[in-house]
Amino acid sequence: MRTLIIHGPNLNLTGKRETEIYGKSTLDDINRMIKEWADKNKVEVELFQSNHEGEIIDKIHSAVGNTDFIVINPGAFTHYSIAIRDAISAVEIPTIEVHLSNVHAREFFRLKSVIAPVCKGQISGFGPKSYILALESLV
Ligand code: DQA
Repeated sequence: MRTLIIHGPNLNLTGKRETEIYGKSTLDDINRMIKEWADKNKVEVELFQSNHEGEIIDKIHSAVGNTDFIVINPGAFTHYSIAIRDAISAVEIPTIEVHLSNVHAREFFRLKSVIAPVCKGQISGFGPKSYILALESLV
């Protein structure tokens, strides 16, 4: 089972930015946790981070034919990127949207996800564990 994990914009700063919201684990810590879980559960994971919408779209396109599932934290793109939504919809690879914070308990502009309607589900608010919960739901 091959899974592509996509971390969107600003997630490279996790552990340093707004730690009261996103926690103190760095992206490297989160990726290590994902890798450990994946190895234990015999899931192949590819880890990718980008701050650029087009790069995320290219990555989603490149998953066709070699990836069974996508787990994506689209960062702020969650709330307005129709282009990422269309890419997920186009490739027809089952995708789960994840967030470190509970986007439903924050500012009003985070309440809307344009990505969630083309995903199998959304997991939000469990910190780095959101990624693991997504992976667990896939296996
Ligand atoms: C986030 C939530 C988004 O609203 C925000 O723009 C982020 C991080 C999260 O993981 O909680 O950059 O996706």
